[in-house]
Amino acid sequence: MPVSVYQIIKERLKNDCLLKEGQEQLTLFDIFNLPTLERPPVIYPITILKRQSLRKAGDRQELLQIQSRRYMGNKFKLSSFIREIIDRECEESSSICDIFAGTGVVGNGFNKNGRKIISNELLYSNYVSLYAWLSPEQFDMGKIADYIRMLNEINSVKENYVSQNFGGTYFTIENAKKIGAIREKIEELEVNFKEKCILLTSLLYAMDKVANTCGHYDAFRRTLDTVTPIKLLIPDVQQDKNSQNEIYNEDANQLVRKIKMDVLYIDPPYNSRHYCDSYHLLENIITWKKPEAFGVAKKMVRSDLKSQYCLKTAPRVFDDLIRNANCRYILVSYNNMAGKGNNRSNARIKDEAMISSLSKRGRVKIFETGFKSFTTGKSKIENHTERIFFCEVLRSIKG
Ligand SMILES: C[S@@+](CC[C@H](N)C(=O)[O-])C[C@H]1O[C@@H](n2cnc3c(N)ncnc32)[C@H](O)[C@@H]1O
Repeated sequence: MPVSVYQIIKERLKNDCLLKEGQEQLTLFDIFNLPTLERPPVIYPITILKRQSLRKAGDRQELLQIQSRRYMGNKFKLSSFIREIIDRECEESSSICDIFAGTGVVGNGFNKNGRKIISNELLYSNYVSLYAWLSPEQFDMGKIADYIRMLNEINSVKENYVSQNFGGTYFTIENAKKIGAIREKIEELEVNFKEKCILLTSLLYAMDKVANTCGHYDAFRRTLDTVTPIKLLIPDVQQDKNSQNEIYNEDANQLVRKIKMDVLYIDPPYNSRHYCDSYHLLENIITWKKPEAFGVAKKMVRSDLKSQYCLKTAPRVFDDLIRNANCRYILVSYNNMAGKGNNRSNARIKDEAMISSLSKRGRVKIFETGFKSFTTGKSKIENHTERIFFCEVLRSIKG
């Protein structure tokens, strides 16, 4: 029976997809036992070897993944559904813009060599993390590993901004002191912007793991039982896929006027819960301006971070966004909570308004799936579905 080249390669490589310490990468010459004389010199892909050697590092650190974070409304579980729609409906998808990117998991799911992923976020803390995972700026992985090891070894007993404001509530006193000391240290290190973003992202994800909350920072839990010591991990940045990407920290409606892409993916906040209220603590520590923090929840002033999509203005700003989108296809994530939850969780844009805005630009289809949303545990909503509104753009911006 004829055997395909693919089967031969698969059989030979079996469990050897990742290089082991000291092991050479197999070439097609090895696989087919071709004479060695004709072999060109083997060039090892440096990033793979580095990632491999990090896995083998003495402290056996596991690498951090982009989705290893709790974030309200994140679409990690929905990303394969979004991919299916794009594969089925879009002829061209060589540039995709994730304009309300949050954690960046959707854009990351499409990230590959030769494709441009444009990611944008209003919150600076998310922008930093998007820059770490997806920007094309080069960085030194060995340096990152050394710095993360050093930051984990910091032993801080002194009070600082984090321990004074968030110790004993959101974090244990020990973790809060260490977070403050690590954050201060990151400011002093000799690193480029990408490296700084990678270190801050490592801290952000580590804080999320030990925070005494149910996933957001609107409040801390009464009993401080999250006592695990904080530990920073090395982010598994897939830099070889990032060469064309762009990252922005702008209001979506301003950015949309300046960019062009094949696919625009829109995942705005649905309701009146502002993300700056829920993630004030992470935003505060990542920006590190040490503002005064007020009230029981210790929030700083956030007036310049409020989103128009959480206000009554939402239908109008959504219409403006769609009107100015310079792209071939638009996908919008919006759930069906309108009128089903409590007042704060009711959707700001009604289906009719959304369809009306999209229909002005082209043909609209709605894709639906059952999907468990992130809830705070207060409101249990039955028959919750997540929908994707899809629009094939037929009318240009001026048309
Ligand atoms: C539903 S979340 C997106 C979640 C994201 N798709 C993910 O999987 O992580 C909406 C995001 O939009 C951001 N946002 C709100 N208003 C914005 C605006 N006017 N421009 C840009 N981003 C905005 C919020 O900070 C929040 O992270």
